[in-house]
Amino acid sequence: MAYTREDYMEAVQAIQAHTSLKPTVALVLGSGLGGLADTFEERVVIPYDAIPNWPKSTVSGHQGQLVIGKIEGQTVVAQQGRAHLYEGYTPQQITFPVRVMHFLGAETIVLTNAAGGLNKSFAVGDVMVINDHIYFTGMAGFNALSGPNDESIGPRFIGMANTYDRQLRQLAVQVAAENSIQIQQGVYACLSGPTFETPAEVRMLRALGADAVGMSTVHEVVVARHAGMRVLAISGITNISVDDIDAYADSDYKAVHEEVLEVGKLIVPRLITVLRGVLRAL
Ligand code: HPA
Repeated sequence: MAYTREDYMEAVQAIQAHTSLKPTVALVLGSGLGGLADTFEERVVIPYDAIPNWPKSTVSGHQGQLVIGKIEGQTVVAQQGRAHLYEGYTPQQITFPVRVMHFLGAETIVLTNAAGGLNKSFAVGDVMVINDHIYFTGMAGFNALSGPNDESIGPRFIGMANTYDRQLRQLAVQVAAENSIQIQQGVYACLSGPTFETPAEVRMLRALGADAVGMSTVHEVVVARHAGMRVLAISGITNISVDDIDAYADSDYKAVHEEVLEVGKLIVPRLITVLRGVLRAL
């Protein structure tokens, strides 16, 4: 499925019919973090159903609405919930919202997600600023920029050496330090899911240099860079990836998704503190 500029504009117009606010920052609020958008001032809520072509998330913990409003002095547009590859969407469908938010006026995008910790020095509850990624699904042919390229949106080929904006990363680290929040920086590996990693896959990912693993974000990041947006992406480490096949052989291993949602609650206030601090300083 390849979208055209008209498809994006149709969605932009449907959104602009609800509000005259012009957002300059886009937020993609992952697992459990949607609540931040409930605190926006002058907020306008638009259900995804009301926006043409918009992919709907079917996962618990993801609400399905777009919220436009003001927070920390910025006018923002926030996705409360996102769609994933494992729900049956294509990378192009997942990233439709990024282009729409860009056409609404957003020049900066801040994305959050829940991720498994691979780096042995990470602890559950840590916050990790993504400083690079490994786009496994992209390498396997599911790259969000595959397909016809509209040169009026961005170039066919894009360099990825400077994907995660250095200034924004430094800002996030500084805000975390000021608030005594433990913050890590590292490489995020994007897999398709919905299966969590096997112990062998965990060891492989670690050997390849990944610090955290998840099922989202990178699709949106490449499309944002294609459009020239500044990118900040932050993971909440909700679980430490299991690398030993015998670790849970004799006990009930709680479903990881339950752990993700539970620990997510603990991380949310930390992520919100970092996001608010970054927005205030922009
Ligand atoms: N793996 C993949 N995605 C995730 C994980 C994980 O361990 N935790 C949260 N999202």
